[in-house]
Amino acid sequence: MNNFTFYSPTFFAFGKDTENEAGSYVKQFGGSKVLIHYGGGSVVRSGLLDRVKRSLENAGIEYRELGGVKPNPRSGLVYEGIDLCKKEKIDFILAVGGGSVIDSSKAIAAGTLYDGDFWDFYSGKSRIEKALPIGTILTIAAAGSEGSPDSVITKEEGMFKRGASGNVLRPKFSILNPALTQTLPAYQTAAGITDIMAHLHERYLTNTKEVEVTDRLIEALLLTMVHEGPRVIADPNNYEARANIMWAGMMAHNNAVGVGRSQDWNSHNIEHELSALYDCAHGAGLAVTMPSVFRYVYKHDVMRFAKLATRVWGVQMDFDDLERTALEGIDMFERFLKSIGMPTTFGELGAKEEDIPKLVDMLCYGDGRDGNLYGFVKLSAEDCTRIYKMMVK
Ligand code: NZQ
Ligand code: ZN
Repeated sequence: MNNFTFYSPTFFAFGKDTENEAGSYVKQFGGSKVLIHYGGGSVVRSGLLDRVKRSLENAGIEYRELGGVKPNPRSGLVYEGIDLCKKEKIDFILAVGGGSVIDSSKAIAAGTLYDGDFWDFYSGKSRIEKALPIGTILTIAAAGSEGSPDSVITKEEGMFKRGASGNVLRPKFSILNPALTQTLPAYQTAAGITDIMAHLHERYLTNTKEVEVTDRLIEALLLTMVHEGPRVIADPNNYEARANIMWAGMMAHNNAVGVGRSQDWNSHNIEHELSALYDCAHGAGLAVTMPSVFRYVYKHDVMRFAKLATRVWGVQMDFDDLERTALEGIDMFERFLKSIGMPTTFGELGAKEEDIPKLVDMLCYGDGRDGNLYGFVKLSAEDCTRIYKMMVK
């Protein structure tokens, strides 16, 4: 296991009706004038926004609002949020929504306390040292941004989708009420499940030896998703299944299961160009991306893939043919994704084969990139072209 530091200071309030305590948590963590940031309207329709406002009012906390965050959040609204926070002297941001709303909130939080252009953090020109404190009320189990130090934003000029990271971006508190996810369309629930499973795979694909504790934790979380995913798709109101998925989503990405080991993230990087260009759900893009990436790289460590196949997918280990075992596990994963309603081909995603050179160019040479992707396996532009072509099928 490698040396590591792990700082995860987020306070979690989990369970039914916990959103009604939002005001007292904002107060506890030092907020007095809040920006409530939200998305395209699901929190208005469900009545959640009204309950949150009431909770702030009851705690005597002033607030301003900024809605309109789109899935795959854009830089334009981040600039607007930064201006608003500076003008109104906001001292706390409350994200009410999914990963897109939380990521946009994180970008605004860092950008408000920075003299330059906030995009410097996302293009790798500058590191995030300070940010306004944020709290979250999560409405979809997926991105894990409620516990992570990460934020992913798309810059409209060039449609570059890039991530930035910093421990100061970890939320001060996150409110996780699984019942809030019951209004999700089945497709979004499935995309969330896929994203959570991707975060686990990106950590499982490591070049670090002797990491049994995190290997086993990742396997346990993947097994949970295999069990609970179909239950929640069959019965969207299954609170217990949603509760297990919601906590698994947080665990998958606050990095407790990724410490002390190298990680991959090539599937995420390859996917981000798809959701930037076609505006598909990030999880749906990953469902198309992961099986092809895994089939492209599995020979790098066949035993790791064979282990995953036996421990998570129940494939019988064939010691005479580890490759067969590994590939069967990948096939089973792909079939699982299909069974919960995810796309598995380029076309289903609305992606076009003729766009592949453009995708590869953005991926390998766009903002902040040097021609290669670094992860479990180093991938060149040629490798990425082959992987995108495999997704066409
Ligand atoms: O905008 P509204 O109206 O709220 O609708 C949203 C949106 O259309 C809807 N939704 C969310 N909760 C709902 C609901 N609809 C009904 N009922 C509810 N309870 O779902 C749609 C998707 O929301 P979004 O926030 O985009 O989903 P998700 O949480 O999957 O976030 C995706 C973004 O997170 C990034 C992705 O790249 C993508 O941009 N990621 C962020 C990470 C991080 N910060 O650590 C890591 C991830 O790997 C990921 O890259
Ligand atoms: Zn993800």
